[in-house]
Amino acid sequence: MNRDSPNILVTGTPGCGKSSHSKKLKELLSYELYSISEIAKEKGFIEKYDEVLDTSVVDEDKLLDFMEVELVKGGNIIDWHVCDIFPERLIDLVVVLTTDNSILYDRLKARGYKKNKIDENIDAEIMQVILQEAKESYEEGIVVVLESNTEEDMESNVGRIGEWVENWKKDHPEGVSGEKVEKEVESEDEGEEGEEEEEEEEEEEEEDDEEDYDEDEEQESEEDEEEEVEESDEEDSAPPSKKQKK
Ligand SMILES: Nc1ncnc2c1ncn2[C@@H]1O[C@H](COP(=O)(O)OP(=O)(O)OP(=O)(O)O)[C@@H](O)[C@H]1O
Ligand SMILES: [Mg+2]
Repeated sequence: MNRDSPNILVTGTPGCGKSSHSKKLKELLSYELYSISEIAKEKGFIEKYDEVLDTSVVDEDKLLDFMEVELVKGGNIIDWHVCDIFPERLIDLVVVLTTDNSILYDRLKARGYKKNKIDENIDAEIMQVILQEAKESYEEGIVVVLESNTEEDMESNVGRIGEWVENWKKDHPEGVSGEKVEKEVESEDEGEEGEEEEEEEEEEEEEDDEEDYDEDEEQESEEDEEEEVEESDEEDSAPPSKKQKK
């Protein structure tokens, strides 16, 4: 099945205006809106509650199983601060909202966030964590950064996205297929073996790239990788990227 309307992912640091933009976009386009933090709770996609981080941890597999069916149809807006879990073949535009630090600080403070949570989010905004994740996960051509400081910004952003949708439709008169390509299905069938092979290949490539790579460093990086796998996404704060964190 081809989708004849695009899927738009609206992302950015908590408080930058994802939900506000997404609601206005929904009014303009009459698309389905998936505010993931809310949907995860409604549909029971919460894996656990992280007491330390004071946030719910979303079960990404369950979420993706649900979203895949919806995204294949097209015409969806996704509102979430996590942008790197959706398959590229199902996403047509990634809007990364950014907000000046002092404005973001005031918005988070107004929500009653604790100081460490505010600081964490401001740091993530300064380091452009979510933008980096978006660039690593999708073709740069579909990643758009838009400022979200004022109401005027929001109006203009929503208008721009509306125009982009019109152009997308002109450029894709036959729509776009979101079906899994054969390679993807095969690698899923291979399961863990396939993943292991991929890891081995990656390791080989790394070794080729770095001539002076000694064993101690290798040990360290393996430990880091294990730690990274254990980390989960947060609902309302954006810690340094899993990929960036070293
Ligand atoms: N461009 C903007 N101009 C003025 N106010 C804004 C703008 N964007 C967001 N706000 C305000 O900032 C607050 C946070 O916005 P919003 O809830 O849309 O952020 P969010 O990115 O969805 O946050 P979260 O990730 O926590 O869900 C709201 O009070 C909203 O009205
Ligand atoms: Mg929101």
